[in-house]
Order: sequence, then structure tokens, then C-alpha cells
Amino acid sequence: MSGEELARRLGCSRAAVWKRIAALRRRGYRIDGRRAGGYTLAAMPDRLGPAELAPHLQGAWRRIHWFEETDSTQRVARDLARAGAPEGTAVIAERQTSGRGRLGRQWHSPPGLNLYCSVLLRPPLVPGAVPQLALVAGAAVAAAVAEETGARAAIKWPNDVLVGGRKVAGILVEMDSEMERVHHVIVGIGVNLNGPRSSFPRDLRTKASSLRAETGRRVDRAAFTGRLLAAFEARYGRFLSAGFESVRAEWEAFSCLTGTEVRVAGPDGDVAGRVLGLDDDGALRLAQPDGSTVRIVAGEVTVREGYRVR
Ligand code: BTN
Repeated sequence: MSGEELARRLGCSRAAVWKRIAALRRRGYRIDGRRAGGYTLAAMPDRLGPAELAPHLQGAWRRIHWFEETDSTQRVARDLARAGAPEGTAVIAERQTSGRGRLGRQWHSPPGLNLYCSVLLRPPLVPGAVPQLALVAGAAVAAAVAEETGARAAIKWPNDVLVGGRKVAGILVEMDSEMERVHHVIVGIGVNLNGPRSSFPRDLRTKASSLRAETGRRVDRAAFTGRLLAAFEARYGRFLSAGFESVRAEWEAFSCLTGTEVRVAGPDGDVAGRVLGLDDDGALRLAQPDGSTVRIVAGEVTVREGYRVR
């Protein structure tokens, strides 16, 4: 588009357009300019800021707080929640210096390769129902991975997302509540998108991977993020109006554990058994050798020797 046309549409001078173009170039936008042909946007920087995400956002969740670097997007989202930010506010960082995983672990968060995102929710739920939200988010991540890359995504209860048997995404759900009322929930989602296997710490390389390492194709990070937010928002809406039943069939279809022998390290010790599936509230049902069935509401699942998850 010509500078003249841009100035007309934006209601500013041609000098102002030129200044903005120069500023965008400094931020990594490749804008070709020819006297006759006007300006052409040739390439956008690989960044997840509001401007880069805007063309990919489909739903109502459009408030994006973007950081080049932060300690943890969970911490930022919690501060925003306490300051009154509305539901659907998302915090995204290019890099986290203290990325947090489940069970007090760290989440490896190198710059510019992956997605580190925390979404603030204010669901009208009792605290006991919040773990179901983690499953809802898991289904959304698995669906976004499958749709964006064509890869076969699997969920390992409660919400690790695997491709090729390796973990490519994790979800951390934290809440602030009273006994009977939830103030807010922060759903933290980390997805390994474009890092080569060598970018993972040595001890993670057999268990963790990225979508690029598994599929051989680079993922458009902004497009993926837009798809993920839309997928999560849609399932969250269904969950609030129709309950976990509305997401359960999809979750079960992604589950890679059904029928496998597992060991679950939980708050009350280890339990072993064969996975039967999910209970109505999202608990994992295990068949024990004596024929009894147990429900697991929290814990870390290890697949027993001889079984390999898909
Ligand atoms: C897991 O252990 O599987 C959960 C990992 C969750 C990581 C994400 S990255 C964005 C958000 N910020 C954090 O510090 N953690 C979550």
C-alpha cells in the first residue's frame, strides 16, 4: 500500500507513516518499500506480542500481557488477578527465568522457541471442581497440537500432552479460593514448539521433546497460540454450561493410558493398577489385582515396564 493511502486511512501525515514504518522495522518487521509499489509487509518477527497475535485471535480472550522476559507468567497472572483483571486475561512471555512445573518442579523456558502462557479464569465453581479444569485445558492443548501440526497428540493423565511418546506440553493449575468459593484460577500452559532436542537439558531428552523435533516442521508460534486460546475458550465455555461430560469423550479419545498398567505416586503413597478410564469428576479409575477399583484424584503416573504410551 502506498504511503499516501496509509496516511489517508490512518488519518495522519505521510511523515508520521514513515516514522511508524521505521519503528516497526526496528522491531523486526520486514517492510519492503518501493517508490511505485508502496509498502509491502514481507515478514513479521517471530514474537508473541499483542500485535503479532492480533491476526490470530478468534474469541473473546484478547487481553494479552506480553513480556520479553519474566520470572513466571503464573506470578504475573496472579498479580493481575489480585488487581482485578478480567477473565480471559492472558500473560505470555518469550522467556521465563523461574518457570514453574507441577509438583514443585522447574519448567525449562528458553527464549523465543516455545509458548509460555497463563490464562486467568474466574469460574463459578466450588474448589473441588477445579481439577476438572486442568483436564479441560489438556483436551484443548491436545486438540490445538493435533490441528496445527497434524501430529497424533496424546494425553497422559492428568494433563501432560505427548507426541511420539514424549512430553511436549504441560499444564499447571493454581487457584485462590475460600472453602466454598473460588476467587480465581490461573491455568499455566507450556508448549515446546520449535526447540531442537539439543535445547533440552540432558536429563529431559528421553522424556521431553518439541513439536518441531517430533514432526520435522517449524510451528508458527503466533498461529498456534491463537488456535490454543480459541480451543481452550470454547471448551471452557462448554464445561461451564454443560459440565465435564461435554469434554470427557474428547479427553478419553486423546488418553494414552487406558488399558495400561501404571503406578501412581500420590499424596497417600503408591498405587498400582490397570487404567480403566476417567470417573465423572475427572478422577482416574484403576483396576487393582484383587478386582477392586480405586479412584485417584491426584498424583504422578508412571507407565509400568513393558508398556509404551503411543
Ligand atoms: C508441568 O509440570 O507439566 C506443568 C508445566 C507448566 C508450565 C507453564 S509455562 C507457563 C506457565 N508459567 C509457569 O511458570 N508455568 C506455566
